[in-house]
Amino acid sequence: MKGKKETVKQLLNSTEYDRTVNIKGWVRTKRGNNTIAFAAINDGSVIHNLQVVIDVQKFDEDLLKNITTGSCINVTGKLVQSLGKGQTVELQAENIELYGTADPETYPLQKKGHSLEFLREIAHLRPRTNTFGAVLRIRHTLAFAIHKYFNDNGFYYLHTPIITGSDCEGAGEMFRVTTLDLKNLPVDDKGTIDYSGDFFGKETNLTVSGQLEGELGAMALSKIYTFGPTFRAENSNTPRHLAEFWMIEPEVAFYDINDNMDLAEDFLKYLISYVLDNCKDDLEFLQNMYDKELIDRLKFINSNNFERITYTRAIEILEQSGQQFEFPVHWGSDLQTEHERYLVEKYFKKPVIVTDYPMAIKAFYMKQNDDGRTVRGMDVLFPKIGEIIGGSQREENFNKLMQRINELKLPQKDLWWYLDTRKYGSAPHSGFGLGFERLVLFVTGMGNIRDVIPFPRTPKNAEF
Ligand code: 4AD
Ligand code: MG
Repeated sequence: MKGKKETVKQLLNSTEYDRTVNIKGWVRTKRGNNTIAFAAINDGSVIHNLQVVIDVQKFDEDLLKNITTGSCINVTGKLVQSLGKGQTVELQAENIELYGTADPETYPLQKKGHSLEFLREIAHLRPRTNTFGAVLRIRHTLAFAIHKYFNDNGFYYLHTPIITGSDCEGAGEMFRVTTLDLKNLPVDDKGTIDYSGDFFGKETNLTVSGQLEGELGAMALSKIYTFGPTFRAENSNTPRHLAEFWMIEPEVAFYDINDNMDLAEDFLKYLISYVLDNCKDDLEFLQNMYDKELIDRLKFINSNNFERITYTRAIEILEQSGQQFEFPVHWGSDLQTEHERYLVEKYFKKPVIVTDYPMAIKAFYMKQNDDGRTVRGMDVLFPKIGEIIGGSQREENFNKLMQRINELKLPQKDLWWYLDTRKYGSAPHSGFGLGFERLVLFVTGMGNIRDVIPFPRTPKNAEF
């Protein structure tokens, strides 16, 4: 990059001493006495701070007084080898410009550690903490690795719409998109809203998944993936649910469910390796602060095959477990997080892929098995998280798909284009959805999904 400015990260790694450099950043701490002061500054490029050494006599008293925690400064000086503990280089200030002050009386991020709950209330400032700097850098690295993995493996990035007229998961948990006047809705005498005058001339909502359009792409480009925001108006107040989250959805023509499982396992292991190789400092920080087993757990995932079992077998194991679950299990019930975590953490002690779920608890598009009661769905379950991936082989047979759509009374008129893929050149195909924040949650060892996305959207919360 031409005309680049050096970052704190570059300066800390530099071995070219005794040269003049410039750095701009936010002051994390300042300490010292009447003759010498030390300001630790950070610009977000790395978890560590650069120590700026200030000869108090050389600078204006007012300027120095305003260099407080949270202020932003522009420093030019000499980069020298440090004799002090904890750093190899430091910057001897020759000129300091104060960009912005931060009143110590009101700036909320003083030196002391803050609870994650408190930091959620100041999500506009929390990226300036060590914790959120680390999480956001890891989040970025994972996003990059996702694109790299797919690009290296011949997948095309397909941009699926955010505003849709269909409900992929059929769960009805959608946010309405409308420009109708809410105070004066066009309703008929039965109270039904007439959407013909709405912006799109029909009922629309924010997408819950890019899958249906992703399948259209796979039926032409063979290997595609989506990576975009998805929205669910489910009232789930848990540490693993967001109303707005990012999902990665590969969809591949000619893959059966076994190929799909192989892809999911290889993909997750690649992403974990990528972070282990590229985010060492941030992982070590998070491990020390929050989760002593973090790095070992990540390595463990990568050195073991995921266990693959059917739903029927999973139910047997749970029924014989002797555990008192909050939600009782029986064949036909959906697996809850407590069940998933028992299978992963207590029984198999490694990631588990559960396949062949009852048809009644899964979405309409999953391929029906010959037994007439299960479908070729697959969920990947992870320690601490439970479900991290949900996917399936898709029903490619037009008649079987139509029958399921009718049984579930899904609005056929919204799905004509989807059905066309089964009419024209239909082919076996499979795909899955990885919840990006669940992945970031797992990789960072954080405990709450609200702390791995910059500005979380949850029930009753859309601040910032
Ligand atoms: O299992 P889900 O609902 O599957 C689908 O949406 C499929 N259409 C995907 C596909 O086959 N292409 O969601 C997929 C994943 C879940 O496994 C979970 O990781 C994540 O998305 N997820 C959520 N993450 C955060 N907050 C929520 N409310 C989530 N709901 C699902
Ligand atoms: Mg699911």
